[in-house]
Amino acid sequence: TTNFSILASAKALPTTQVMNQELTQLMPTSDNWIKQRTGIRSRHIATTETTTSLAVSVAQQLLHQSQLAATAIDLIIVATMSPDYLTPATAPQVQAAIGAEQAIAFDINVACAGFVYGMQLVHQYLQPGQTALLIGSETLSRLVDWHDRSTAVLFGDGAGGMLISANPSLMTGRWLGSHYATFGTDGHYLTAGQQPRVNPWSVATDEADDNRWAFQMNGRRVYDFATKQVPRSIEQALMQADLKSSDIKAFVLHQANARIVASVGQKLNLTSAQLPLNIAQYGNTAAASEPILFAEMVAQQQVQRGDKLVFTGFGGGLSVGSAVIEY
Ligand code: ACO
Repeated sequence: TTNFSILASAKALPTTQVMNQELTQLMPTSDNWIKQRTGIRSRHIATTETTTSLAVSVAQQLLHQSQLAATAIDLIIVATMSPDYLTPATAPQVQAAIGAEQAIAFDINVACAGFVYGMQLVHQYLQPGQTALLIGSETLSRLVDWHDRSTAVLFGDGAGGMLISANPSLMTGRWLGSHYATFGTDGHYLTAGQQPRVNPWSVATDEADDNRWAFQMNGRRVYDFATKQVPRSIEQALMQADLKSSDIKAFVLHQANARIVASVGQKLNLTSAQLPLNIAQYGNTAAASEPILFAEMVAQQQVQRGDKLVFTGFGGGLSVGSAVIEY
């Protein structure tokens, strides 16, 4: 099926907002450095919220907006690199919270590219007439060393999602093309969440001794990766869709750094109107960044039915992916 109708979109953010200035009490940094190098002014940080509670809030809003019964949902995918538990995964918890008894539910982890990988899965899984919830939800604050200025200033918590239907009788919403690529040999440039090896037979090794729980990132390498591979991925996806960049209303890019978005825009000759940004408010929320941005674009009527859109995610893996749709 090429039918891909986004019937609702929603976001959920923790109530606590942390301004750049507050971070200067934890590490040697400044509001100016963070604003100029990244475009970030604040981020939302989970205090009582969890990856699951944020995802559930998004799911409830999606059902409310679309007026669908929870039992009409066939598939729930949560993209996250910061789940509350390794098992049960986040999506089954969402299924239970909303009572979507008919849905199968599972998580995927493609770091910051998770949402756009989830779009491809939804597109390929849904049979005509079926409906999915696709949610990106993160509490990256639990993976941050809050004294490491090279990473802590970048990340934030939040969730966003879409209710997607493959109902051929709906007049709008089509899948037009996509492109995905993985660069596993560069994976060590961005790591987080190493699991401890703690069984009675475990033997100390260099890797095990070096407890890499918090984000470790070679920022320059990731920056170079993104500014090279994101334009390539968009070009490939547009080629598959047989479209030009000028045909696209907006490029919903992963919000990692305003400079990366500007560089991609320059390489592809895009206008600033084609490059929505909200990183100033939320920082990098990994798999949640594109659906949060999209939900705001819909709420502010910056996107209309029939508009062609490109979603692009990139990050840990290293991974990149782009999906072209008609809204
Ligand atoms: N505050 C103040 N100074 C800082 C800070 C900070 N928070 N962080 C670094 N600096 C200093 C550095 O120590 C360095 O000082 P020096 O010149 O005296 O050595 C100077 O600022 C410049 O540092 P660079 O690392 O060269 O700064 P750069 O311009 O490369 O910006 C950044 C760093 C923002 C991390 C950038 O490289 C970037 O955005 N990279 C991409 C990161 C990214 O997208 N990651 C997410 C991927 S998504 C995922 O999958 C989770």
